Amino acid sequence: MILLVIFSSLLCSAAARPSLKYLENPNSGENETEDPAEVRSAAIKRLLEVFGMEDPPAVHGHKQPPQYMLDLYNTVADVDGVTKDPYILEGNTVRSFFDKLRSEQVEFRFNMSTVSREEKILTAELHLFKLRPQATLAFNRHHFCQVSVYQVLDTSKTNSTQDKKLLSSRLIPVHSTGWEVFTITHAVRSWMVDEGSNMGLHVVVRTLGGSAVDMKLMRFASGRNHHQSKQPMLVLFTDDGRRPTRVESTDFDDNAATFNLPPSFMSGTSSRIARSVDYSEEEGMSAPCQRHPLYVDFEEIGWSGWIISPRGYNAYHCKGSCPFPLGQNMRPTNHATVQSIINALKLLRGVEAPCCVPDKLFSINLLYFDDDENVVLKQYNDMVAGSCGCH
Ligand SMILES: *[C@@H]1O[C@H](CO)[C@@H](O)[C@H](O)[C@H]1NC(C)=O
Ligand SMILES: *[C@@H]1O[C@H](CO)[C@@H](O)[C@H](O)[C@H]1NC(C)=O
Ligand SMILES: *[C@@H]1O[C@H](CO)[C@@H](O)[C@H](O)[C@H]1NC(C)=O
Repeated sequence: MILLVIFSSLLCSAAARPSLKYLENPNSGENETEDPAEVRSAAIKRLLEVFGMEDPPAVHGHKQPPQYMLDLYNTVADVDGVTKDPYILEGNTVRSFFDKLRSEQVEFRFNMSTVSREEKILTAELHLFKLRPQATLAFNRHHFCQVSVYQVLDTSKTNSTQDKKLLSSRLIPVHSTGWEVFTITHAVRSWMVDEGSNMGLHVVVRTLGGSAVDMKLMRFASGRNHHQSKQPMLVLFTDDGRRPTRVESTDFDDNAATFNLPPSFMSGTSSRIARSVDYSEEEGMSAPCQRHPLYVDFEEIGWSGWIISPRGYNAYHCKGSCPFPLGQNMRPTNHATVQSIINALKLLRGVEAPCCVPDKLFSINLLYFDDDENVVLKQYNDMVAGSCGCH
């Protein structure tokens, strides 16, 4: 039922009333054939579309998501998934891919078939976990090595003698340990244009003088021999273009402050409430327009298998009357003010009072497994009612 409330909450409460009643008792309407299970499945399908998917990703067992993606999620989103700061991420999607080659050599290949062609590639990074040198070589005279990441080229296609292209190169201390990140955006862009050209990446380590280095000296964790938490990973930052590049609001801070207040504090002064109550008695209307909780529980919807975080979120909904006169706490538009006056004076027939609707919306973030078990972080706009107003 929660799902259905979400969709209808977007409508004006007055207009939504008949359909809500219908949803509460599907057999009460004129159409007796609609089955509640069908309604539910249609609603869930529509909700998937809101999250940009046609089908829920297939879940095969439980894999541990990369720590990098968990940390990124916690940086971008609060516990409810609501975006902390809309300016942290440049795009709205971050994906992590594990190496498919699992080679003993420092060669990697990532299957990015799950990325849509429409997505704009912003940045791509190769994350490699550098291990300590093997003990026998610990007293090597080299303190730094030059680590270069190459794109392996398909020589049959390019018709050139060059078999690899330098993407990124850096000096790395021999004795360091931990994640090393290389930018490989150009290679990924070319793979997106022609998927068949993805021959993978090759890492070459040299001394400062340019000679080859024993790979026991400069070692990187591989998907084959090392713990899952140290697996080579490609991290891709994209934008799927769904977000209009508009600024959320000019008074973001102001609303962020009211965001955590309980709904009862959202509706302004008590005298306003009292006056509104008089109206509601007179006209059989509800309490004044205000924000109410509306928890969307992913477990209840059956999505807890593929969504890593959050478990659900509070979308809130707006409910209540917008009686004349509309105070500033009702956040009316000029249009709503005029409409409420026309309505109150009964100057014209059929002019309703303004609607209680969300007038500030926030985005949420989802961390989930896609069909290929890659972990994806995606930001969805306009998912949480930050405040309500009479419009
Ligand atoms: C019931 O609704 C469905 C789909 O909305 C429609 O195809 C069907 O004709 C309706 N049946 C009746 C009896 O109104
Ligand atoms: C990439 O993955 C997709 C779906 O998992 C698969 O159909 C395709 O064959 C893979 N491509 C390569 C080059 O392995
Ligand atoms: C490769 O280049 C040579 C000369 O530049 C040309 O004769 C040949 O047709 C090219 N082959 C392909 C497959 O493009």
